Amino acid sequence: MKIFLDTANLDEIREAVALGVVDGVTTNPTLLAKEPGAPEDIMREICQLVDGPISAEVIATDADGMIREGRTWAAFHRNIVVKCPCTIDGLKATKVLASEGIRVNMTLIFSPSQALLAAKAGARFVSPFVGRLDDISTPGMELVADIVQIFDNYGFNCEVLAASLRHPLHVVEAAKMGAHIGTMPVSVLRSLIKHPLTDIGLKRFLEDWEKARRPAK
Ligand code: E4P
Repeated sequence: MKIFLDTANLDEIREAVALGVVDGVTTNPTLLAKEPGAPEDIMREICQLVDGPISAEVIATDADGMIREGRTWAAFHRNIVVKCPCTIDGLKATKVLASEGIRVNMTLIFSPSQALLAAKAGARFVSPFVGRLDDISTPGMELVADIVQIFDNYGFNCEVLAASLRHPLHVVEAAKMGAHIGTMPVSVLRSLIKHPLTDIGLKRFLEDWEKARRPAK
């Protein structure tokens, strides 16, 4: 499974890239609004830090506006993927952008039927929002499993990008379901590596090594 970072914070991206496991980045207007500076400048910096798909979301809600913004983002850097919301206009825009060779990540996916139509329109990625479904007592991970099955059935050239992952179990479950990508905040990425038995085991090994180096009496 590819690991994407779900942040627009440059320090977090630098920290995670140093781990050597980051394949891409997803941003959204909320994440960009948390950071100082113009969104375009932040996206430019992200493109310097990560050599992989980097999602930038359109703000327009009409198809023509989305197409205009999508073309602008795509011209920005070869790694930019245009995020379009899963609406009627989003589908129309996806069809046009995809026909121009621009990669689209269809976002705000909450049902298998939305994902099916996104793939048919030519989206290269679909983003089912697991955590937001869990928030309303609907099992978000079932959506990931359904989409993976549907895409497998028909061989769609569209990757399932499990989004809105809030804790390590979400990531593990998404991997078990066969999601191609999981996007997560850096806090979740950090927690994937942590295990108390690793810490205890390492402490004991180091203590025993010190004992082994003590001169025999
Ligand atoms: C990523 O593409 C999504 O915008 C993001 O994962 C949403 O996460 P949230 O539901 O925690 O805001």
